[in-house]
Amino acid sequence: MQDFTQYTPTDIVFGRDAEKETGRLAKKWGAERVLIIYGGGSVVKSGLLKSVEQQLDKEGIEHTSIGGVQPNARLALAQKAGMSAIKFKANMILAVGGGSVIDTAKAAALSAVNQDSELWDIWTRQIPAPDCALPVGVVLTIAAAGSEMSDSAVLTNEETGKKKGFSLDIIRPIFAVMDPALMFTLPKDQIACGVVDILMHTLERYFTPVEGNMLTDEIAEGLMRTITTQGLKAYQNPSDYEALSEVMWCSSLSHNGLTGLGRANDFTCHKLGHELSGMFDTPHGASLSALWGSWARYVYQTDPERFANYGRKVWGIDIEDTDEAAQAAIKRTEQFFRDLDMPTCIGELRPGVQTDDLIKKLADSATDGDTVKLGTFQPLDMDDVIAVYRMANHR
Ligand code: NZQ
Ligand code: ZN
Repeated sequence: MQDFTQYTPTDIVFGRDAEKETGRLAKKWGAERVLIIYGGGSVVKSGLLKSVEQQLDKEGIEHTSIGGVQPNARLALAQKAGMSAIKFKANMILAVGGGSVIDTAKAAALSAVNQDSELWDIWTRQIPAPDCALPVGVVLTIAAAGSEMSDSAVLTNEETGKKKGFSLDIIRPIFAVMDPALMFTLPKDQIACGVVDILMHTLERYFTPVEGNMLTDEIAEGLMRTITTQGLKAYQNPSDYEALSEVMWCSSLSHNGLTGLGRANDFTCHKLGHELSGMFDTPHGASLSALWGSWARYVYQTDPERFANYGRKVWGIDIEDTDEAAQAAIKRTEQFFRDLDMPTCIGELRPGVQTDDLIKKLADSATDGDTVKLGTFQPLDMDDVIAVYRMANHR
């Protein structure tokens, strides 16, 4: 086991009507003036935004709001939200929505107190990481990104088409309220995207070069058994509160660091997926399911026993031969994606099969012009990345 630190300070209130605790929690964590950030309108339609505003009123907390966050959150709106926070003299930002809204809130929280720095310079680490940000609270409406407890956020620079993640402990939300019933209004494809993302957050940590680490493995395997069984249930019956509860809690625990403690993480598929999302606005979960099988087939021989173990522990694959079990585990995972009606290749994504020139462009961007290797399980250079994209580039 490698040395590690674990810092997950988010105050969680989970369960039916949890959103009614928002005012109390905001007060508890010092809110006086709050900038609320939300997305394309689902929270207006459901009445959630109104209800949250009323709670802040009840606690005597001043507030204003900014909406319009799109899936694959954009840099420009995050900058605008940062300016709004400054103008309003907000001392807390409240995200009411999913990963894109929370990530916009995190970015605005950074930019509001680091006015002399360009947000994208902070994001791309052109300048040293800031040491302060406004606190961010969350009312979660979709289980997927795990941003409600994570130290990271992802923005797309719409001018360059580059989608990039950023991680820093000070942007972990200070509190999060999670009512699984808020997900009853989700379109089914968003449930499926979320379930894939949650599974992927654990898979990207599970395939690691670090051996040992039994407890972390057991936690990860338990989480993956839960998200695969309960995620499918929730997809098939989007009003199954119990299944949605499991999915929502899996979302937070899969990405707060717990399932990767004491080991190096990989996250290659996320980086390759972000290139597709930056270029085509592909939904995050779909970008991952479209690539994972190709990545897995390309790298599994680095440690076939690890893949076989995943298949046996998570999918109950009863095959003795290591190589056969490893391959069966990859196939079974792809079948799970299909059961969720999710794509398993680039050809099944909206823009379809791509030219080889485009594949090379994606690989060039992912590896910063072949200057960085991706991942740790089997570090991939630009030629490897081209090979993975090519393997996925079919119908
Ligand atoms: O915008 P509205 O109208 O609210 O609709 C949203 C949006 O269209 C809708 N939605 C959310 N909750 C709803 C609802 N519709 C009806 N009822 C509800 N209760 O769902 C759509 C998707 O929302 P979004 O916030 O984009 O989803 P998600 O949570 O999957 O977030 C995806 C973003 O998070 C990033 C992704 O890259 C992507 O940009 N990630 C963030 C991470 C992090 N911060 O730690 C890690 C992840 O790996 C991921 O990269
Ligand atoms: Zn993700």
